[in-house]
Amino acid sequence: MRAKAHMTGKEALAVEAFLASTLTADVRNEANYANVDAPKKTGAELVAQFGCQGCHQIRGEGGKLGPTLDGVISNKGEAFVLKKLANPKFNNAASAMPKYPMNKADMKAIVGYLAK
Ligand code: HEC
Repeated sequence: MRAKAHMTGKEALAVEAFLASTLTADVRNEANYANVDAPKKTGAELVAQFGCQGCHQIRGEGGKLGPTLDGVISNKGEAFVLKKLANPKFNNAASAMPKYPMNKADMKAIVGYLAK
C-alpha cells in the first residue's frame, strides 16, 4: 500500500532545497559552531547558512512556500519571530518550517537582520 504524502509538490521542493542547504560544512561542523569560542555569525550569515530563502522571500528574493519575511518584524513583532525561531510549531503544529540548532544570540542576530 502506498502511503499518502501530505505535501504539495512545491512543499516537497522546498524541503529538498532545505535538506540540500543543510549539507554545508557549516552545519556538519555544528559541534564547532556551538563552541563558545567559535566566531559569532551575523544575521545575514545565519540566514544563508540555514537556507531561510529556500522557503521565504527576504528583500524580495527567495522561495514562496512560506510568507515573505520582509516587514515581518514590524508586522508581527520581535517576540513573535524569536518564538517562531525557537519553536516553529508553536503556533502551527503542521508547520513545514524546520527547527534549527541556534542559540538566543543567533536568533537575535537573525531578528536584527530581518528588521533592517
Ligand atoms: C522548509 C521551508 C522553510 C524554511 C527553510 C524556513 N521556513 Fe520559516 N516558515 C515556513 C512556512 C511554511 C511558514 C508559514 C507557516 C507557519 O507559520 O509555520 C513559515 C513561517 C515563518 C515565520 C512566521 C511568518 C509570519 O508572518 O507568520 C517566520 C518569522 C519564519 N518562518 C522565519 C524563518 C527563518 C528566519 C528561517 C531561517 C532560519 C526560516 N523561516 C526557514 C517554512 C520555512
